[in-house]
Amino acid sequence: MKPRIYITRPVGREAVEMLSARCHVTCREQDRPLPPAELAEALRDMEGLMLAGARLPGEVVTQASCLRAVSSVGVGYDNLDLAACTARHIPVTNTVGVVEETTADLAFALLLGAARRLPECDRYVREGHWRYWQWTLLWGADVYGKTLGLYGFGNIGQAMARRARGFNMRVLYCSRRRAADSVEQALGAQRVDKDTLFAESDFISVHVALNAETRHSVGAAELARMKPSAYLINTSRGAVVDEEWLAEALQQHAIAGAGLDVFEQEPHVHPTLLALPNVVLAPHVGSGTAETRARMARVAAQNLLDLLDGRRPKTLLNPEAFRRQAGV
Ligand code: 8YV
Repeated sequence: MKPRIYITRPVGREAVEMLSARCHVTCREQDRPLPPAELAEALRDMEGLMLAGARLPGEVVTQASCLRAVSSVGVGYDNLDLAACTARHIPVTNTVGVVEETTADLAFALLLGAARRLPECDRYVREGHWRYWQWTLLWGADVYGKTLGLYGFGNIGQAMARRARGFNMRVLYCSRRRAADSVEQALGAQRVDKDTLFAESDFISVHVALNAETRHSVGAAELARMKPSAYLINTSRGAVVDEEWLAEALQQHAIAGAGLDVFEQEPHVHPTLLALPNVVLAPHVGSGTAETRARMARVAAQNLLDLLDGRRPKTLLNPEAFRRQAGV
């Protein structure tokens, strides 16, 4: 009998076709949030789950008695209870390796947009304020030759460093582990401690995963260390930054600006941030290009097929669950 699988968002025909050859596929048509109670109901007789743009809390995992494979579409997995899956020996995969360059593109776009005040420029022209050229019109900050501080130096942080080289930037990074000499040399990146990173950078870009250790790890102290001319860019997870303190710092001009794709309580955005002109906002679209979304869906579909067939997928988040399930 073909295994039954559930897809939480309309992820496209290609992935559905890949999976349909081997599974009974139920793909939700609505491209909007899925309340956990509805997910629990949908998973009642499902063996596989492709989790896109939805949360998978522990209680849903406990209720889903047939579930034996979870393929998450995305790199960050703070939206799912990995420990609950592991406890039930349910292997979980993500799509590491396909979103990084695209997310770094957006991070760099936010950096440039904040530095050169692109949303303000755009509004200025559209709203008919542009009547003559002015020497002092909408001055921004140079990016070329400045210091980029990467808070986190995984795949996306390193992709940012590659972009920064084209802008002749000095690249600093702060990360738990030091990158290999060859990586540091190729990217011209220098590891520094967190205090130095925040104090010396003209642009700080956040690239750490959200976990208990990193939650609010950019707060009052870190923002106070930043130069008044510096910018904060975040395409990781909103809760890494203490949004209340960030709004305060921006309002008080303690820092120059910010570019944000992620927020603490998405889709809610702090009202102060919404009102400030020196913040560029995006609605969590870091991986939002047609090519990358297609790649994510394809990789996630392949991961699910591997799991259901007992093959070890490339991007396993809890290998111990896979081993227990496979009995090896
Ligand atoms: C996804 C993301 O859109 O990869 C990530 O971590 O934040 C995004 O690419 C999100 O996870 C929705 O599934």
